[in-house]
Amino acid sequence: MYQFTPNIQKENPIILGIESSCDETGASVICGKKILSDEIASSADIQALYGGVVPEIASRAHTDAIAKVVDKAIKNAGISYADIDAVAVTYGAGLLGALLVGVSFAKAFAYALNKPLIAVNHIRGHLAAAYLQDESLKPPFVTLLASGGHTAILYTKSESEFELLGGTLDDAVGEAFDKVARVLGLQYPGGPNIERLANTGKNVVPMPKMLKGNGGYNFSYSGLKTAVINYCHTKSQKGEEYNKADVACSFQSAALDILVEKAVQGAKEKNVTTVTAGGGVVANGYLREALTTACQKAGLKLVLPEKRYCTDNATMIAAEGLLQYRLGNFADMRQNAKASIPLSVTIDKG
Ligand SMILES: Nc1ncnc2c1ncn2[C@@H]1O[C@H](COP(=O)(O)OP(=O)(O)O)[C@@H](O)[C@H]1O
Ligand SMILES: [Mg+2]
Repeated sequence: MYQFTPNIQKENPIILGIESSCDETGASVICGKKILSDEIASSADIQALYGGVVPEIASRAHTDAIAKVVDKAIKNAGISYADIDAVAVTYGAGLLGALLVGVSFAKAFAYALNKPLIAVNHIRGHLAAAYLQDESLKPPFVTLLASGGHTAILYTKSESEFELLGGTLDDAVGEAFDKVARVLGLQYPGGPNIERLANTGKNVVPMPKMLKGNGGYNFSYSGLKTAVINYCHTKSQKGEEYNKADVACSFQSAALDILVEKAVQGAKEKNVTTVTAGGGVVANGYLREALTTACQKAGLKLVLPEKRYCTDNATMIAAEGLLQYRLGNFADMRQNAKASIPLSVTIDKG
C-alpha cells in the first residue's frame, strides 16, 4: 500500500491544507507556523436559498472548486508543487460526500507528487488554529471549543493530549444559534445573522438560567433554545408584537456568558496561565470581547484565533497537519472519509 513517509522530517515543513467538510472549499499553505496563503470558496449563498446546507449541492460545489482553490493557494504562497512537504486533508467529521471530494483530491495529489498524506480531524483543526495565532503558544492551557457540533471545556495537556473537563449534555452552542435564527426568520448561516441583529437589541428578554456551578463544566442548550421558541410562538399566537433584536441579544448573552465563565473557572482550577478558544462560535464579537475582559480580570493570557480561522478554513487543517507531521503520523492510500467522530475519539486519538 502506498504510503510516503519522509526520510528527513523538516523543522518547518511546507504543508498544504485542504478542507471540504461542509460548504466551504478551503486550501492553505503554511511554512512551519507561518501562513503563506489562505484560499476559500463558499457555496453558502446557494445554500441560503434552501435554509441550510444541502449535502449534494455542497459536494458538487466542492468538485467544481477544489482544483482551482488548491492551485490558487499554491500560487499565492509563492511556491511550486515540488516545494510542498506534506498534504493535510480533513477526513472527518462532516458531510460524507463533501469530505470525499477533499480526501480523494488530496490522495491523488499526494500520490502524483510523491508527497506524504496527513489525515486531519476537523475539530482538532479548530483546536490547532490557536498555534498559528501565537507561535510561542505551548500547553498546558485550557481551551474553549464552541462550534456547530461541539461545546466543551478542555484541559490541553500537550499538543495531542486533552482532558475533557465538561461538555454539552444536549445541543451544541452553534446549533442553538442556528435553530434560534430560524425561529427569528434569519437566513442561513444563523450565527453571524443573530450576532448582527443582537447588536441592535437590548438584553431585556428573560432567559432560563444556564447550568451554573453545580453543573460543573457541563452545558445544556436545549432548554434555552426551547425557551426562545416558546417566547416567540406565544407572542405570535397572542398577536403581540415582540422585538426580535432584543430576543437575539438576550439569547446571545445567555448562550455565551456561561462559556466565558466556565473557561475562566477551568483555567483557575487547572492552575494554568493561558486560555485558548476555537470553533465557529468563537468568531462571535460579543464572545470575543467577553472572553478578553474576563481573562484580563483573572490575569490570564488569552489566545484567540482571528475570526476567519475560527469558522471553517484550511489553514487550521494545515496547522493540525503540522502537529501530526512532527509526530510522524502519516496516512496511506486506504484513508477514507468519516461522517462522524465522537468528541471522546477526537481528544483521544484525533
Ligand atoms: N458570529 C457568530 N456568532 C455565533 N455563532 C457563529 C458565528 N459565526 C459562526 N457561528 C456558528 O458556528 C457554527 C459553525 O462552526 P464550526 O466550528 O464550523 O462547526 P463544526 O465544525 O462543529 O461543524 C455554526 O453553528 C454557526 O452558526
Ligand atoms: Mg467547523
